[in-house]
Amino acid sequence: MSDLPRRGEPVPSLEQAQLTSPADVIQEMIAGAWRLEALRAFVAYDCAQLLRAHGALTVRELAEHANAHPAGLEPVLMALEPFGYVRYQSREEEAGLYRLGPVGEYLLPDHPTTMLPAVEWNAYPLVARAMDDLVHTVHEGRPAVVDAAGGMYGYLQRHPRARELFDQVMAVRTARIAPIVAGREFGDEIVDLGGGIGVLLAHTLRAHPQARGYLIEREEVAKRAQEHLAGEQGIEGRWEVRAGDIFNPVHIPEGVGDYVAASIVHNLPEQQARELLTTIRGRMAPGSRLWLVDMVVPPTPEPHPSRDLGLRMLSLFGAGERRLEAHVSLLESAGLRIAERIFPLPGGLSLIICAPDGSEEPR
Ligand SMILES: C[S@@+](CC[C@H](N)C(=O)[O-])C[C@H]1O[C@@H](n2cnc3c(N)ncnc32)[C@H](O)[C@@H]1O
Repeated sequence: MSDLPRRGEPVPSLEQAQLTSPADVIQEMIAGAWRLEALRAFVAYDCAQLLRAHGALTVRELAEHANAHPAGLEPVLMALEPFGYVRYQSREEEAGLYRLGPVGEYLLPDHPTTMLPAVEWNAYPLVARAMDDLVHTVHEGRPAVVDAAGGMYGYLQRHPRARELFDQVMAVRTARIAPIVAGREFGDEIVDLGGGIGVLLAHTLRAHPQARGYLIEREEVAKRAQEHLAGEQGIEGRWEVRAGDIFNPVHIPEGVGDYVAASIVHNLPEQQARELLTTIRGRMAPGSRLWLVDMVVPPTPEPHPSRDLGLRMLSLFGAGERRLEAHVSLLESAGLRIAERIFPLPGGLSLIICAPDGSEEPR
């Protein structure tokens, strides 16, 4: 009897089939790079919008609307189908129909947490080149491509579209964790260091009507942060954006109760991370807290977003994600300690609440 499924019989998904051999594991990883290209093609040909507009289309119809070749588009749709980008429905006589799937909806420009900026950002020429050069970066420990472009933030300063995309990607990611972080207890004054356009600060101030917040950002972001915070309800008159350098102690308000550094430390190689944390520590009062939002690579070998993001940090910043012991020793070297248990956040992030070493329990 043939092993082929009969018509109408479901073909087992990859999870059902299980990865059985190491060769499959390696092949699966290689295919990850191919799938990214399929995703880029899906976006480039506006497939999500076309499928939403038309409901259900054959590959030939979709290709016609998209100005693509049906023979080119079909493998893309087949590759993305198991992940929920599209749903395929075969029909007895004619070609089957494709509909937009629940994951594909996140590629619509008007989706509240659209992932389009993330796709565009990952395909951005410098970002893609930096990842292509990873083998070389592993040798040097530094991303030569990015260093030659003046460092990541230097490059973003000179490329407003890349900066806008980066800020959008961060804003979407931070919006997932902001309500959870904001739900914790904060004092009267909060300093958000490298706070992006202010998503986390806005949530925190709204949740704490007694609090006042300062956001310190690079000059080219400060203006956008002003605009974002000015548009947020319930925080009027309680925030200030300061264009400044978080490595410069003079730019960090002194003796404030709560300092926040979200997705900052993982951008920094060891020495710079120590320098920054030592600078912040120098501005803290004995009862101050430092709220780090960062990733912690798990001690057991399960897949975790930190393992992949570490590669991105390496390729763009010459940095990486840290295991718990690396966080602890970095913090200790800067005169800080972890003050409470680590709280997991969505997207593989963690909240690490720190206090000055040797201080009493923070309030
Ligand atoms: C990865 S983003 C995180 C943004 C924000 N904290 C969040 O979680 O959404 C890092 C931010 O730090 C800012 N930054 C980097 N170096 C800085 C510096 N020396 N002074 C001020 N801001 C800096 C960048 O402009 C960027 O917006």
